[in-house]
Amino acid sequence: MHPLDSLLKPQSIAVVGASRKPGSIGRQILHQLIEFEYRGMLFPVNPQADFVHSMKAYPSVSSIPDPVDLAIIVVPRDAVPPVVEDCGKKGVKGLVVITSGFSETGEEGRRMEAELGERIRHYGMRMIGPNCMGLINTHAGVHMDSTFAPTLPLSGRIAFMSQSGALGVAILNIAQRLDIGFSYFVGLGNRTDVSSNDLLLYWEDDPSTDLILMYLESFGNTKRFMQIARRITKRKPILAVKSGRTEAGARAASSHTGALTARRGRDIAADALLEQSGVIRVNTVEELFDLTLGFSKNPLPRGNRLAILTNAGGPAIMATDTAVSLGLRLAELSSRTCQELRRLLPPEATVQNPVDMTGKSDRSRYDPCAQILLEDENVDSLMVVFVPPMMIDAMDIVEGLEGLRTKFNKPVFGVVMAPDEFFQELNQKHPGHMAIYLFPESAVRALAALDRYRQWREKPIGEVRSFKVDREAAADLLNQVRHEGRSELTTPEAQRLLECYGIAVARTTVAKNLEELCELAGGVRFPVVLKAVVPGLLHKTEAGGVKLDIRTPEELMAAAQKMAVEVKRRHASSAIVDGPMGFLVQEYVRGGREVIVGMTHDPKFGPLVMFGLGGIYVETFNDVVFRVPPITDLEAREMIRQIRGYRLLEGVRGEPAVDLAGLAEILERFSQLVEDLPQLAEMDINPLMVFPEAKDSRAVDIRVRLKEER
Ligand code: COA
Repeated sequence: MHPLDSLLKPQSIAVVGASRKPGSIGRQILHQLIEFEYRGMLFPVNPQADFVHSMKAYPSVSSIPDPVDLAIIVVPRDAVPPVVEDCGKKGVKGLVVITSGFSETGEEGRRMEAELGERIRHYGMRMIGPNCMGLINTHAGVHMDSTFAPTLPLSGRIAFMSQSGALGVAILNIAQRLDIGFSYFVGLGNRTDVSSNDLLLYWEDDPSTDLILMYLESFGNTKRFMQIARRITKRKPILAVKSGRTEAGARAASSHTGALTARRGRDIAADALLEQSGVIRVNTVEELFDLTLGFSKNPLPRGNRLAILTNAGGPAIMATDTAVSLGLRLAELSSRTCQELRRLLPPEATVQNPVDMTGKSDRSRYDPCAQILLEDENVDSLMVVFVPPMMIDAMDIVEGLEGLRTKFNKPVFGVVMAPDEFFQELNQKHPGHMAIYLFPESAVRALAALDRYRQWREKPIGEVRSFKVDREAAADLLNQVRHEGRSELTTPEAQRLLECYGIAVARTTVAKNLEELCELAGGVRFPVVLKAVVPGLLHKTEAGGVKLDIRTPEELMAAAQKMAVEVKRRHASSAIVDGPMGFLVQEYVRGGREVIVGMTHDPKFGPLVMFGLGGIYVETFNDVVFRVPPITDLEAREMIRQIRGYRLLEGVRGEPAVDLAGLAEILERFSQLVEDLPQLAEMDINPLMVFPEAKDSRAVDIRVRLKEER
């Protein structure tokens, strides 16, 4: 028996707080369980009443003579702890606490919730909530609806968890209108005990669930989520609405990676996490329904070649535009298909894809044309558009398609641009019908997501490689910096850090002031770059703090003297250039292509790694991608390919490609560094100069900041 079975497949339920008041939540839950014909034993608990809802009521859970698997608690907050204690003593294994007023309300609530957690752990109980919406399991042997949503659910093969109760109710209502049925619904509430990850694990092997939906407001254990979701999505699709897309990170950042993360909002971390886990993220509840419809009623396509069959040009053009923009291709129909279509259709019809049969087409045309298209080996999926003209019945068309879609193992999406009444009639006449949309764009979005999911299923996961590195020396270095009360690493320290992880750096010497520079100038291997050492200065070039291609000791000293004056003049008001200025003399790395590799630390998600075009392009084009480490070898390659400027790395106008495999390895090594060293707050390698030969690649500028010590 699974530990969550007592919650999700209980054989007996006590409703504690089963109220006599019509319209109250406790009464509604009891009513809903009866209405949905729960298959187990049901016990109302109410010390004030002998009977509730024509059933014998018990004064407490412990006074129930039979065993109780699950208690649904709907009593006022202060009555919850003694009820839980009573349940524990009775040997109840599962609790659903509907009552609100816990950690969502403040300090006192938080304290009570923590106590609740301790109490259930003490008795080995599992709990959903508090402050939750309840559970549904439509399985014929259980048939439990313990929510207070006004409509009864349809049964289906979709499991849905929601971190928002109110939205959960709304979704259940709309789902019914759209003929979408569920295997399970769980309103998670405050997640004191049972988490989203627990439910994912439960549904992973559940034979009655083919598709998982999540409404997420926040992630709990992100690493664990990624691990679990990555595995599940290889077998079952997960669709997630994650709210909070526009939340802007207000943190001050001292690195490009930090600044770019902050500018785009913290949500990029959620994006990265979901993408790496194979979870399909949607932006709105509307989109969630569009995709749910498409995913739940269709097989996976074998490829991205779409055929469109229509009786009107406009919607087919809109569908085509959206399809192409979302990565689908219009199928190139075989000549046999075109000939057969030509034989069936009037001369004014178009027999190329999109196939426009013209307005007068009824079922006698739709059926054979759809069949011909589905038979074509070049067609992976079919979208059938019907704009109802007078005299032709939309239901007739859909019924014809229904017969066809089970014959071929290919997705068939319908678009019927008809009024609401048509959809109501469709649900009544044909429950469990095929995916029918009102608008072509919604159908295409769903189909494109289905195809993206196919690609994820086909893609190997890759491997997180472990390189031989000097982790201990790197950790000692960071500890030493901390010990000295600093959070920023000097250039030599940052270089040493990268070298510990096998990432080559540009040869660099440091001079504390002009005198020291003069002493070492004779031994320098030219050409070099001279850089001012000004702590906290992000844009050195603009501040006059960089001079390239210096070829002699004399040029070096002249440049340094000028730089000292220039930087001080531009930053006269700033305390950061008080006292003598230091210098870096660095090997002049020429002719490579500049990329940026960075990391930042998100308080909720942990570290994120970033890759993009570097140097001046970073801020101009914002052409960067993020991943949650540890990244696999395949993810490293994907990061490189995903930036818009990828072609520059591949080589344009006869330029040779940079060593992409070597660059991917640098990203993997960097990811290992970030994973190994939790002290890091932000880090930029910008630019990392990359060349056609891996051995030439060099980290040029490196910035490393450690987390504040608590
Ligand atoms: N054991 C069993 N029953 C008890 C009890 C106990 N220890 N203490 C009280 N009750 C009974 C009461 O007698 C009452 O029944 P009655 O109406 O027949 O007299 C019933 O429990 C409810 O108590 P009441 O004081 O009327 O509370 P309420 O119905 O106004 O509110 C909650 C109770 C749980 C609904 C309310 O506190 C709450 O949390 N509401 C928000 C719920 C919510 O939104 N959750 C999140 C959803 S996403």
